[in-house]
Amino acid sequence: MTAINGTSQEPILHVHDLAFSYPDGRQALAGVTMHVDAGEKVALVGPNGAGKSTLMLHFNGILKGGSGRIRVAGMDVVKENLGVIRARVGLVFQNPDDQLFSTTVFDDVAFGPLHMGYAAAEVRRRVQAALELVGIADFAPRMPHHLSVGERKRVALATVLAMDPSILVLDEPTAGLDPRGRRSLIHLLRGLEATMLVSTHDMALVAELFPRTIVLDRGRVVADGPTAGIMADPAFLEAHGLEAP
Ligand SMILES: Nc1ncnc2c1ncn2[C@@H]1O[C@H](COP(=O)(O)OP(=O)(O)OP(=O)(O)O)[C@@H](O)[C@H]1O
Ligand SMILES: [Mg+2]
Repeated sequence: MTAINGTSQEPILHVHDLAFSYPDGRQALAGVTMHVDAGEKVALVGPNGAGKSTLMLHFNGILKGGSGRIRVAGMDVVKENLGVIRARVGLVFQNPDDQLFSTTVFDDVAFGPLHMGYAAAEVRRRVQAALELVGIADFAPRMPHHLSVGERKRVALATVLAMDPSILVLDEPTAGLDPRGRRSLIHLLRGLEATMLVSTHDMALVAELFPRTIVLDRGRVVADGPTAGIMADPAFLEAHGLEAP
């Protein structure tokens, strides 16, 4: 992983004045500027439709064509760099059905490590380790589409953990998890050294795990700073459809 305290020359995630409209004309991002330094764990919050998922999908080039600039680990997010960037950024979609496409959990989780060129034994080791991390060690032979939502959510996270990425971009990772699953996810995320940007409506999770919070509303950053300060301002939270835990 990139050294944590300040030795890298620029933020590991860097977005400058990003504006993006969907093909139907709806503007989802209206000039977003934000950055995340190597080793930081940052929460991304905001009401439904704020643009959180849209922003996240830009970090590995799934969405493109807007104006502004996005850099990841010192590279512009452009076609030539996408292979390297996708190996560095583990992006977990809000909807696990967008992530899972194989007939077994094993194949879904093995896809990334295989693509990275690991030998079969190492792929198997990574798949098993990732499934254990998300608490579904015995799920390898199962069919992703015959799993519950929370189980699929865990598989989706495992597909990314199996690649051991230095940057994790997680879109609502606790949505659909039961309390025990949520608790073990918090424990897992706390223990990972990866840089993290995590979108969530789970404000208790934000307070517990993320020293810094970025608030997005209507495609704009409306706050970016220490979580404690943001949580201590009920009027601000209410104005942006949020509340303290
Ligand atoms: N494929 C799409 N085509 C057109 N508009 C879209 C599309 N996906 C999202 N949008 C719109 O873009 C805006 C931002 O959506 P986005 O999914 O990024 O919000 P979000 O902050 O992730 O919300 P949520 O908390 O509900 O996940 C919304 O107005 C949404 O309706
Ligand atoms: Mg979303």
